[in-house]
Amino acid sequence: MAESLDNELIAAIEKAPNAAVAMDDTVRLLKERLPHYTWAGIYLLEGDELVLGPYLGKPSPHTRIPLNQGICGAAASQKATIIVDDVNSDPRYLACSIETRSEIVVPIMRGDTVLGEIDVDSDGLAAFGDKDRQLLETVATALARKL
Ligand code: SME
Repeated sequence: MAESLDNELIAAIEKAPNAAVAMDDTVRLLKERLPHYTWAGIYLLEGDELVLGPYLGKPSPHTRIPLNQGICGAAASQKATIIVDDVNSDPRYLACSIETRSEIVVPIMRGDTVLGEIDVDSDGLAAFGDKDRQLLETVATALARKL
């Protein structure tokens, strides 16, 4: 029986020898298995900036994002997942690629502390729903134990 992607991701993260491998494996599995994930990456919080770590997709100009900027900054500041169905209608949005239409950002938390976040973009409008939120929040919890 095929293992679910959730379980596969959790297993990969738990068996990773360190945080760098756990983050690389996470980004690779998400991008490989979910065709609507056009860009997938992880930002880590350093001081009051989110710093881009491993990612797959087009290079982003936003390698450091202050907490008061972007959808990434908003998710970290609010300590909550943000789904944007149409990035072009959201004034917070910082563009990475002109093809991007929707985005989900999920904070990686330890208790009340933000460690970083998982950021995924899609070229499709309203590409992200509850399934993506549940998957990425589960992955964020597993990653938090490794960071
Ligand atoms: N769109 C993000 C910036 C990161 S790039 O998409 C990779 C934002 O608005 O914060």
